[in-house]
Amino acid sequence: MIVSSVAKSRDDEYYTPAYAIQPIKKYIKPNSKIWCPFDTEKSLFVKELSKDGHEVIYTHIEYGQDFFGIDVECDYIISNPPYSKKVDVFKRLFELGRPFAMLVGVVGLFDSIEKADLFKDKEFEIMYLNPRVSYFRDYDNPVEIKGIPYQSAYVCHKILPKQIVFERINKTMY
Ligand SMILES: C[S@@+](CC[C@H](N)C(=O)[O-])C[C@H]1O[C@@H](n2cnc3c(N)ncnc32)[C@H](O)[C@@H]1O
Repeated sequence: MIVSSVAKSRDDEYYTPAYAIQPIKKYIKPNSKIWCPFDTEKSLFVKELSKDGHEVIYTHIEYGQDFFGIDVECDYIISNPPYSKKVDVFKRLFELGRPFAMLVGVVGLFDSIEKADLFKDKEFEIMYLNPRVSYFRDYDNPVEIKGIPYQSAYVCHKILPKQIVFERINKTMY
């Protein structure tokens, strides 16, 4: 049920296809408790991670659950965050201190003094996805957006075995 009247930024409403979630799955320990903080029940993060037998807790601004004001006890925090709040999201995640994986565009990821200062002393890993992920804008009609202008990567904390990992994605699996 939608309980919040918080205005959504259209720039934040890009949804993740299942094929972009597959590569992170193998790094998650069995029977984990996973918090998806930018997700409704329609999110494919919620569906794909639940299929693997994990306990998935999802929260979303539409339900009045503002990521910056809540905390959920879990083993991992995994999602694709709102692009307009990327820096604040990573600040909050490092404050929470739990293992996380956030799928983001790589353009400008570290391209400001604020971002460099945020990451420079932190423990983090990156998984680059190839080819580029094509997101979609409607869960009920998941038509992929063509010509995505940037590569995507998971920025992780205490999940990947080394600092940079490259993964191929199979885009036929939507
Ligand atoms: C890039 S979309 C990704 C949605 C979903 N994780 C997926 O991958 O399909 C980010 C979502 O976060 C929501 N959002 C924005 N600000 C939020 C906040 N402060 N707390 C929780 N959710 C928020 C947006 O409305 C949007 O639906």
